[in-house]
Amino acid sequence: MGTDWKVRRSVLGPEARKKQARPTVSQAKPTMSNPLWVRGHELAKNVLSRLKHIIRLLLPPILLEALRKVRNYIATPARPEWEAMPNTDAVWTAHPGWAHGSIAETQRMKWPAFLASIEGTRPFGWPHEAPTDVPIDIGAHNMIVTFGYVLGRTALGKRRISVLDWGGGIGHYYLYARRLQPELALDYVIKDLPSLCAVGQSLLPEPTFTSDDAQALSRRYDLVFASSSLQYNRNFYDVLGQLCDVAAGWLMVTRSPFVEHSDDFVLVQRPYAYGYLTEYAGWVMNRKRFVDFVQSRGLVLDREFMLAERPHVPNAREQCRFCGFLFRRVPNRTAAAP
Ligand SMILES: C[S@@+](CC[C@H](N)C(=O)[O-])C[C@H]1O[C@@H](n2cnc3c(N)ncnc32)[C@H](O)[C@@H]1O
Repeated sequence: MGTDWKVRRSVLGPEARKKQARPTVSQAKPTMSNPLWVRGHELAKNVLSRLKHIIRLLLPPILLEALRKVRNYIATPARPEWEAMPNTDAVWTAHPGWAHGSIAETQRMKWPAFLASIEGTRPFGWPHEAPTDVPIDIGAHNMIVTFGYVLGRTALGKRRISVLDWGGGIGHYYLYARRLQPELALDYVIKDLPSLCAVGQSLLPEPTFTSDDAQALSRRYDLVFASSSLQYNRNFYDVLGQLCDVAAGWLMVTRSPFVEHSDDFVLVQRPYAYGYLTEYAGWVMNRKRFVDFVQSRGLVLDREFMLAERPHVPNAREQCRFCGFLFRRVPNRTAAAP
């Protein structure tokens, strides 16, 4: 901490002020009027700008962009990871969101750690979005084992089931399914964005990856599973309606944020801590509206699930909780008119 000699002098009388020695150059506070400091500052600026130029020439553009984002993120006053926002075009389009290349790349890099986490007889529960060295998480364990339960309900009396995994990323849940129900044959379709499908396809030959909504929705499935993905569609209820229509047996919507009392609202998440150099907008849904909507499409709520994820959103009108809902199609029950 530098001494503020100007303040100290100001409290002295005029005589005392004359007697007080001025500080030497080395003691002086660095100011623009100090010639030594100015020269040093200029030199440092030149060296820095040359260094930056060399780095720009040497680094690949994708790494440069990542560095720029990290720098901007550090330079920006800390903003909360979660923030309630208005439902505007600007909020939904300000960032590339899940299409940002860093997401698929981060997931590809963590793939070996993910494979190790589901090997042999180890307990499930390594959250694949977290850093690779975090311990098993009971909340993640709950989520994964719940998926095993849903597969079991779907498979009753069947040796093979068809699954649409909406927002299934690079295929984590496909491998959970294989480990949770190894005897079950799977016709497994993953619908996600092109960048994630491309990585998924290069890692897993068995499931079908598609980024084409129409292709994914062109047939019906024993189970339609959407884990933490539907809320990222601005037209949430349109997509949900389409998923209901192709769910021949079961629909599971899980890991999504719900509120009891408020109307639906938009949240932005800043997931930089997970290595995702972007931000994404998503809906928080009113629980009753959501359940009523699905039930109006010919399905009934079979079981609700509690999840451990519970972000604190400082400016939200109501704090949300993450839950899952398993719906089953009821024979002879037709969808109610909208
Ligand atoms: C939080 S991750 C969930 C991944 C996985 N389902 C899980 O629960 O671990 C959200 C996923 O939704 C995907 N997603 C976002 N918008 C989508 C869309 N319009 N159609 C399909 N998937 C989408 C993202 O690319 C991402 O893979």
